[in-house]
Amino acid sequence: MSVTTAAGLAEMAGISRSYLYYLKAHGIINVGTSASGRAVWDTGIAAQIKRYKKASRKSGKREPAGCKTCRINNRRYLGNKYKLLPFIKKVAARECGTVNTVADIFSGTGSAASVFAGKKVILNDILYSNYICNFAWFGALPFSREKVTELIIYYNKADASGSNYMTENFSGTYFSRENCAKIGFIREDIERRFKSGVINGRERALLITSLIYAMDKIANTCGHYDAYRKNAPLCKKLVLRVPVPPEPSNPGNLCLNMDANELVRHIEADLVYIDPPYNSRQYCDTYHLLENVARWQKPEVSGVARKMDRSGLKSDYCTEKAPKAFADLIKNIRAKYIIMSYNNMAEKGNGRSNAKISDTDILRALKAKGEVKVFSRDYKAFTAGKSDIRKNAERLFFCRCRDAEKEIIQSPLNYTGGKFKLLPQLLPLFPKDAELFVDLFCGGCNVGVNAPCSRVVFNDKNPELAGLFNTFLKLPKSDVFTAVGGIIKKYGLSDSSVNGYAFYGCKSPDGLGKYNREPFLKLRGDFNSLRGRGARYYLMLYVLIIYSFNNQIRFNSAGMFNLPVGKRDFNKKMRSKLSRFIDRIKSEDVVFENKDFRLFDTGKLTRGSFVYADPPYLITCATYNERGGWTENDEKDLLAMLDAIDARGCRFALSNVLSSKGKTNEILLSWINSNRGRYRTVHLKNSYSNSNYHTRDKKSPADEVAVLNYTPGSEIRGK
Ligand SMILES: C[S@@+](CC[C@H](N)C(=O)[O-])C[C@H]1O[C@@H](n2cnc3c(N)ncnc32)[C@H](O)[C@@H]1O
Repeated sequence: MSVTTAAGLAEMAGISRSYLYYLKAHGIINVGTSASGRAVWDTGIAAQIKRYKKASRKSGKREPAGCKTCRINNRRYLGNKYKLLPFIKKVAARECGTVNTVADIFSGTGSAASVFAGKKVILNDILYSNYICNFAWFGALPFSREKVTELIIYYNKADASGSNYMTENFSGTYFSRENCAKIGFIREDIERRFKSGVINGRERALLITSLIYAMDKIANTCGHYDAYRKNAPLCKKLVLRVPVPPEPSNPGNLCLNMDANELVRHIEADLVYIDPPYNSRQYCDTYHLLENVARWQKPEVSGVARKMDRSGLKSDYCTEKAPKAFADLIKNIRAKYIIMSYNNMAEKGNGRSNAKISDTDILRALKAKGEVKVFSRDYKAFTAGKSDIRKNAERLFFCRCRDAEKEIIQSPLNYTGGKFKLLPQLLPLFPKDAELFVDLFCGGCNVGVNAPCSRVVFNDKNPELAGLFNTFLKLPKSDVFTAVGGIIKKYGLSDSSVNGYAFYGCKSPDGLGKYNREPFLKLRGDFNSLRGRGARYYLMLYVLIIYSFNNQIRFNSAGMFNLPVGKRDFNKKMRSKLSRFIDRIKSEDVVFENKDFRLFDTGKLTRGSFVYADPPYLITCATYNERGGWTENDEKDLLAMLDAIDARGCRFALSNVLSSKGKTNEILLSWINSNRGRYRTVHLKNSYSNSNYHTRDKKSPADEVAVLNYTPGSEIRGK
């Protein structure tokens, strides 16, 4: 065995260099490091690659007949982090606590997110071409691999020679006329199939990604589309490959296409990875052609490089505005940890390749946010002194953020029995190190969305709740607001956020009920006659809840929504609650389930899991407890389930009322008494003195308790 280079080893093993880095980044091959942190490409690694290839062939992960596959890193991309992935992974593993959600907000190819595959990842890039590739690799929409493969085989065989947008504008530049004809034909066909519903959004993204990767392989450039080589032979053939997304994939992944500074105002994540452009080279200039093909709006192009209009795609990070944009970005990030890559091959300055943000500016912004460490590739932590850092081209800035606690937000439902008012007392009782938070009786989700954990399973027996929240989770936020606004307009319901109260002949204390009664009943009637349970059903239900009495949800025995009109409408406060709630659930790794608590699968709980149970209260009464409500048997079953959760070594907290209006919950009391020493009971300060349902007797406040099987502030038991 001897030491060679990455290129030498890749050639020896018959794979591309980028695939070699992929295997290394994903721990498929073991590559040693030198004292300076460099990879040591031992020729013995070729045997590991051979074994892996053989095993993949056996497990059926082989390339489909008729075409080859491609992976996320089979693309040239300026500033890509393929080589740095093990370094990023190592810093994250050693420095961060529990990480469930990762946001890669200048995602480019999405390679950094690929090392966190399986966790919920949020990817964002200002370029649509990157967004579409990110969506192909990480999107949450299911797709048919067979369909994508069949189409790729068809495209590779297709005999397309006719004129199109590509032949008219790009023949003989980056591609031959023949390849332009094929690219134009394929891109047009993808769009046609998508518009006619033959392929879904994810399949469209996979096909466009396959095309972009294929174009990039044969383009007559050195990887950038600022220019092409004149008189170069354009004989390479366009060959599409089937993209194979990284596994495992999280169904909550989110891909976005916006300015990172705007994005961070809407998302939260445990870890935010930042890899902005370093110098004045705009990515929209470098990749204009791929962006043009991805968008496929067929704009006019001009100049020798045949560029389209790129205004709106320019990045502040490539201009003198970069330090200011960066400070604003860091200030608005909501995360526990930040990892940043920033190349410092050159001094800050005005030259084309000079870094736009100085180390001083980076450190100032990050230090204002939390505790900062800087790492070189050999994992040496710098003291963050300027001269030290400058000597190293490849460093990672790590920041443990101080203001990492979640801001408390409110449910968009004003749910009856909601725990919002008790949160200041409940949240400090919850463990900070939970890896999974289960909100077993989630109702309006007030507790789960504010839990000190980014992986939450919300469960409620009410099927309407899971359907509604899943609709908020799956639809883009703007679509939810447009649809809700459309329903309000269609039925002529009041919109006090725009017109005020006087416009409707109403005064605030009396509310808008008089004006809204008729349109509300019409909406309720139409809703009750709906058959399917699609997005329209849940959005109409949401409008009904907003305009109904006390914002409640109530169906009669025939399954008809039967609450009368209420006093309020979709006012500014409700809009803000909905907006912040959608942002929160989209940021986190959440699942909404709809099960009787007894059917909840406790088998998926681990020692790091925490279960919060807020059941209907046996001795008080609420709307959800009216018809066949909560019985003594339910109470006993729940307490037995909590005992079983305790026996598994998991933590739980139970909310309940021990006594109220002279009544005592004897079952609960006897359970608490028989578990003295094992469980602890915390008596909370009464929150319902102003409530309309739990108790109207303000003189005998309910004894509201939280029963815990752990000591708040302590570590996981048995760990
Ligand atoms: C250094 S590259 C990221 C490379 C990436 N980590 C990878 O491994 O492929 C920077 C990316 O930031 C994107 N970008 C530039 N300005 C942006 C902005 N204001 N908001 C979001 N993305 C931006 C660029 O399009 C480019 O893809």
